[in-house]
Amino acid sequence: MSEDARGCSNSSCTRESCAGCEHSKESMLEQLNQYSSIKNVIGIVSGKGGVGKSFVTAMLAVLLNRKGYRVGILDADITGPSIPRMFGINEKASANELGLLPELTVNNIKIMSVNLLLDKEDSPVVWRGPILAGTVKQFWTDVVWDELDYLFIDMPPGTGDVPLTVFQSIPLDGIVIVSSPQDLVSMIVKKAYNMAKLMNIPILGYVENMSYVKCPDCGKEIPIFGESKLGEIAEETGVDILGRIPIDPVLASLVDKGEFERFSCDYLSGAAEHIEKMYEKKV
Ligand SMILES: Nc1ncnc2c1ncn2[C@@H]1O[C@H](COP(=O)(O)OP(=O)(O)OP(=O)(O)O)[C@@H](O)[C@H]1O
Ligand SMILES: [Mg+2]
Ligand SMILES: [Zn+2]
Repeated sequence: MSEDARGCSNSSCTRESCAGCEHSKESMLEQLNQYSSIKNVIGIVSGKGGVGKSFVTAMLAVLLNRKGYRVGILDADITGPSIPRMFGINEKASANELGLLPELTVNNIKIMSVNLLLDKEDSPVVWRGPILAGTVKQFWTDVVWDELDYLFIDMPPGTGDVPLTVFQSIPLDGIVIVSSPQDLVSMIVKKAYNMAKLMNIPILGYVENMSYVKCPDCGKEIPIFGESKLGEIAEETGVDILGRIPIDPVLASLVDKGEFERFSCDYLSGAAEHIEKMYEKKV
């Protein structure tokens, strides 16, 4: 086998320095469940937790579903799964001889999450790294997704071992990086950016969450966490900003009620269109 760009010629390379080299990439990819066919796989990542990654994942999934595509959400955030709750799903996942079956939201978005497997929704997940990563792999290999146009993956937060394994095991077509203005933005966003670059995964763009609050009286936009620096980073890294989401109490209450699918804002409509255009040839 010939050497790749990193000077690696080992066909089963798993060197950390080679993460993302063509060889290691091929050797570590997991096989999709044989009864599934997924056209586009999009990961939602953030350099740190709590910035609204699940929120953005769910919003993009709903918007593409509204456009008439067949959409699924793989909740890869094993220790802090929040996707089923947002959609009011309390049932446990079932299985048949073909594999594990996702649950459906009101509008037929397919969901798989560790919350659908645990007995109690609030039982803490204290598994170690390799088991966490193994569970995520199973959501790829053992779940009968059937046919999907888009699978959105709510990635584990940060840039540690578990996200790295997910990056290596599942063939992502692109990622969206979520940040919020109170982050040490440049450092944290760049971490996520660098990880994607290292793994050769296309970055679709940035989404800034909790960008501002709208005054209920006059509609003025108040940047309560300070002015955004994302514009500078976008320019520096040559990546587009796909959208900005304000802190919106209506959205927060829909999350709490498990009725997120009913939102009517258009903060990410542009992002959804971008994703649709980018992949329309494949769908
Ligand atoms: N723009 C927003 N307006 C109102 N509430 C929001 C907004 N974004 C996020 N929230 C709320 O903030 C909380 C954190 O958001 P979310 O769970 O999506 O973050 P996360 O990045 O997935 O966090 P974690 O790293 O824990 O998985 C949730 O309760 C969510 O409903
Ligand atoms: Mg989350
Ligand atoms: Zn005002």
